[in-house]
Amino acid sequence: MKDVKGKVAVVTGAASGIGLAMCESFAGAGMKLVMADLKDSPLEKEAARLRSAGTEVLTHVTDVSKWEQMQALAAATKAKFGGANVVCNNAGVRSMGLIWETSIEQWNWVVNIDLFGVIHGIKAFVPDMIARGEPGHFVNTSSVAGLMVVGTGNAPYNVSKQGVVALSESLWHELKEVGAPIGVSVLCPGVIPTNLRENSNRLKPSGAAPVQSRAVTADMKPMPASEVGQLVLQGVQNDRFWLLTHPKEYRPMIEARCRGIVETGEVFRGKAT
Ligand SMILES: NC(=O)c1ccc[n+]([C@@H]2O[C@H](COP(=O)([O-])OP(=O)(O)OC[C@H]3O[C@@H](n4cnc5c(N)ncnc54)[C@H](O)[C@@H]3O)[C@@H](O)[C@H]2O)c1
Repeated sequence: MKDVKGKVAVVTGAASGIGLAMCESFAGAGMKLVMADLKDSPLEKEAARLRSAGTEVLTHVTDVSKWEQMQALAAATKAKFGGANVVCNNAGVRSMGLIWETSIEQWNWVVNIDLFGVIHGIKAFVPDMIARGEPGHFVNTSSVAGLMVVGTGNAPYNVSKQGVVALSESLWHELKEVGAPIGVSVLCPGVIPTNLRENSNRLKPSGAAPVQSRAVTADMKPMPASEVGQLVLQGVQNDRFWLLTHPKEYRPMIEARCRGIVETGEVFRGKAT
């Protein structure tokens, strides 16, 4: 989608971190925004700031884990702007704990946001985008944990983020198969300073262990969220599928994992800080 000016971008998890940075980059490129996040997030404050800089913004309180709320987000986008051109399924949380010690409630919480939130976003927006026939683009936020298992005690996140990669690849192929002019990107951030740990600990089910470590591999220079926002904008404009924030640092780990699969039989594990 080379020409994004005047087009409509929907972003979930838009009130903080990477989602907010995507909104800022899109606004800078002249796009209209639909910012979606939870009720007790700084959604209105951030939207007001972007509006005062001249961007047209619709806010919509949305819990991505709830299918009805994602349908309502799509309906509100249609009513206000006639539909979405770019949809960023970005909202996410993390948890901490061994697989068998993690409660089913906590498993559901992470998977329903990090994986089903993306499924809901695709199901809610694709049919109208295909029907309108305009150029469009999806950006699904995965992680370095979508490309390899990172650390231990991180299984719900690893499972969800690897699911997002598989879902995004499947979506790319299926949209091509039906001839829809809609691109797909999967964003795999490494170390990005945001409020992910704090928000996850604030929102987690009661009784769940707090997140202490980051779900990222060691030895990576953090990339500011603003740069991730620009990477995403360029990914949309250049129709690029894989959006890696730290490709040089990932490369030896991805190669080691693949060597394990096809040559050595070793089970690779990314380091967590
Ligand atoms: N920060 C990193 O280093 C990093 C690395 C890899 C992947 N990611 C991914 O990037 C995405 C954005 O995270 P971030 O780092 O900007 O964190 P963040 O906590 O700063 O932002 C996430 C936003 O999602 C919102 N959110 C949480 N649950 C929600 C729900 N059920 N419905 C709607 N919104 C919800 C939060 O309110 C928050 O505003 C996540 O999917 C995360 O897994 C982050």
